[in-house]
Amino acid sequence: MKTKSTLFLNIKSLVQVELTQKTPSFRAGKQMQDLPSIENAFLLVENGKIQEFGKMEDINQTQKTKWIDSSEIEKIDATGKFILPSFVDSHTHIVYAGSREKEFEDRINGLTYEEIAKRGGGILNSAKKLQQTSEEELYEAAHQRLFEMIGFGTGAAEIKSGYGLTLNDELKMLRVIRKLKEISPIEIKATFLGAHAFPKEISRERYMDLLVNEMIPQVAEENLADYCDVFCDRGFFTVEETDKILNVATKYNLKAKLHANELDTSGGVQIGVKHNARSVDHLEHMGEDEINSLLSSVKTKNLTMPTLLPSTAFFLRLEYAPARKLIESGLPVSLATDYNPGSSPSGNMPFVLSLACIHMQMTPQEVINAATLNAAYAIELEKTHGIIRKNTDANLILTKKIPSLAFIPYSFGSNLIEQVFVKGEKQN
Ligand code: NIG
Ligand code: FE
Repeated sequence: MKTKSTLFLNIKSLVQVELTQKTPSFRAGKQMQDLPSIENAFLLVENGKIQEFGKMEDINQTQKTKWIDSSEIEKIDATGKFILPSFVDSHTHIVYAGSREKEFEDRINGLTYEEIAKRGGGILNSAKKLQQTSEEELYEAAHQRLFEMIGFGTGAAEIKSGYGLTLNDELKMLRVIRKLKEISPIEIKATFLGAHAFPKEISRERYMDLLVNEMIPQVAEENLADYCDVFCDRGFFTVEETDKILNVATKYNLKAKLHANELDTSGGVQIGVKHNARSVDHLEHMGEDEINSLLSSVKTKNLTMPTLLPSTAFFLRLEYAPARKLIESGLPVSLATDYNPGSSPSGNMPFVLSLACIHMQMTPQEVINAATLNAAYAIELEKTHGIIRKNTDANLILTKKIPSLAFIPYSFGSNLIEQVFVKGEKQN
């Protein structure tokens, strides 16, 4: 069979590339400013994999004859354009039914997210809609959102359940995610988030019992999830309840990921670290104890990745997470969209990058690290994603002609992506 090859030439800058030194699993603290790049570069993709890259001037005579003069290899002139690894969106809830713009209007008129949730709006509103929606309809809607995300440059994603809140509806959501995994050109990780809210129909105790004695065992039995998440925050799951759920999840080989400290310094970070969570996400409320707890996880070589979701803070008008404080303490930071109907109805990673620069004072280099390598770590894909490395899948973003890397987050709202490649295939 003939191999399919693409050769990118005259790339203005090949960004986040593995040079001679081995790339760390994540970049933390001052290292978040490091972004190894090659100016005026070439990149060869063969059979969907990154085969070779380097400086244009280092292409030797043999390579020239073999590649440039060959009619078998597609050439793409990238003069004035950047190539980056695709983004990794490590936190989404794209399986949902309907939408919640009524609550958006309620917030414009003065209600808070928590007040809306207490009245049975919020997550419970989405759960009611999801329970009345068929698996096929959910799949169609989520499929559309997934491909919209790919168009924004996302090359791997995590998707959560959590709008089912009954055994059958949680399983229905996870089966939709499994179907997406089967057809998706990009890598997907699945997270069970049955502990997203307490349904009104049964007691708190009964729901806890359902979670630990029925839902988690069944999810594990059908091998439907990679992770188990809990919304550990004021008004949702307590630290004790979270501890109990994660103890059971660990027994069933589901690793922890948490929604923590969105509404308060709720203890979510510490309980996440205790359970070796791969990431703790949101973190709008962070004190010294929380930072020290995350730092202690670095020392155990089992870092819990702090994942920030600035489009949620933007949409709900919350305080933004203190990214600078985390980075200056020596921690890494990762960024994700939190794409969901209630707090971030958008899967636009470039917009998240802009928000992180504008409102969290992260630098353009830091946000690229946060959305690629560090985000890949958050879903255990750092060996294969978030970096331009030889012999890995060619999941790439080719930009339009732009003057500099900083131009990407600077031009918020503009679409600067010319082409997205997944395993070497053009997606748009
Ligand atoms: O990550 N904070 C908890 N869960 C989602 C929002 C869910 C919703 O409002 O539907 C989040 O923001
Ligand atoms: Fe979320």
